Amino acid sequence: MNPLTTAAVDVRRTSTHFDAIGGEPAVTRIVDAFYRHMDTRPDASDIRAMHAPDLAPVKTVLVRYLCEWLGGPKRYSDERGQPRLRMRHAAFPIGAAERDAWLSCMRAALDETGIAPALRDELMHAFLRIADWMRNTGT
Ligand code: HEM
Repeated sequence: MNPLTTAAVDVRRTSTHFDAIGGEPAVTRIVDAFYRHMDTRPDASDIRAMHAPDLAPVKTVLVRYLCEWLGGPKRYSDERGQPRLRMRHAAFPIGAAERDAWLSCMRAALDETGIAPALRDELMHAFLRIADWMRNTGT
């Protein structure tokens, strides 16, 4: 194999957020912590109630989505097609309180799993934009 090509591929691979965060095991830890916070925090009880009693299926889906979103394997879109997250959330009333509850759970999950503060802040900024765009109730 051409060593120059290999080097270029390695540089690209190690520069994804997916690699920086620690790959799928790290994403799985974050998602486990995220749903544990959603399951237990009083300020998240309304959004918890929107979810099925068993969180295991949605955990799997969120892990695959976030892996892909961070630049990892494209298993989410291979299995479910275009994310179209706003449409997929249209059945759930999402206003500022629901957005903020989601973000609080994610912030706690990222803090708990110990990712570098600069990367955490960058991801939280991106999550804020996505979660805000998900609002569909005008509150
Ligand atoms: C803003 C507040 C949010 C609320 C209240 C919310 C709530 C929900 C609910 C109730 C489901 C369905 C769960 C089930 O099937 O039992 C869901 C699915 C999902 N959510 Fe959210 N969500 C929010 C924000 C976000 C954000 C910011 C992201 C991504 C960064 C996200 C990613 C997903 C994904 C990937 C799924 C699975 C979609 C699929 O079925 O393919 N959500 N969410």
